[in-house]
Amino acid sequence: MFKIGVMASGGGSNFKAIIDRIGEGDLEAQCKFLITNNGGCGAVGHAESYGIPVYHISGKTHPDTAAYEAALLEVIDRYDIDLLILAGYMKALPVSLIKRLPDRILNIHPSLLPKYGGKGFWGIHVHEAVIAANEKESGPTVHLVSEEIDQGRILAQTRVPVEDGDTPETLAARVLVQEHALYWKTIKEYAAQIGV
Ligand code: GRF
Repeated sequence: MFKIGVMASGGGSNFKAIIDRIGEGDLEAQCKFLITNNGGCGAVGHAESYGIPVYHISGKTHPDTAAYEAALLEVIDRYDIDLLILAGYMKALPVSLIKRLPDRILNIHPSLLPKYGGKGFWGIHVHEAVIAANEKESGPTVHLVSEEIDQGRILAQTRVPVEDGDTPETLAARVLVQEHALYWKTIKEYAAQIGV
C-alpha cells in the first residue's frame, strides 16, 4: 500500500476518479491529503466526502513566497508520501518542492505532449489550439514533473479523435473521460515500476 498526496485547483474530477478507484480497491494506495490553492474548488468537497485532510495553501493564505513554499513542504514532509499527484493544479510548483520529490511527482495534461504544452497551454486553451491547428487526434498525457513546465518524462498517453464540428468544449469532454481512465492506471503502473 503506497501513499499519495494530491494537489488540485478546480472541479477535481481527476482527483475524484483516483480516490474512487482507491475506494473500490483497484488502486492499492492511501490518499493522505489534498493541497489546494483554491479553498472553494470542487476537489475540496470530494476530499471531505472521503475524510481526506485538506490544506488550503495559496498566495492569499501565505502572501510571503518563502512562507508559502515552507507551508507546502511542511505538509509534504509530514506525510512521507511516495508519490505526489497533480490533478488540475493550476499553479507552477516551487522548484524547492520539485527538488524534494525527484521523479515522484506526476501530472496529467489534456494534450498529446510535447504538442500543446508549456506556457499558455492550460484548460480550454489547449483544446482551442488543437482545433485551430486542424489536428485529427488529441488526448491526455501523464508525465513526470520537472522544472520545465510540461516537459518531464512521458509515462502514458491515450489518443482520441478530433471530430468534425468539435468545439473546444466537446473535445475537452472527450479527452476528460480518457483522463479519468488513464491517470489511476498510470499511477498504479508507475508505483509498481519504482517499487513503492
Ligand atoms: C484536466 O483537463 C487536466 O488535464 C488538467 O486540468 C484539468 C483538471 O480537471 N491538468 P479536473 O479538475 O480534474 O476536473
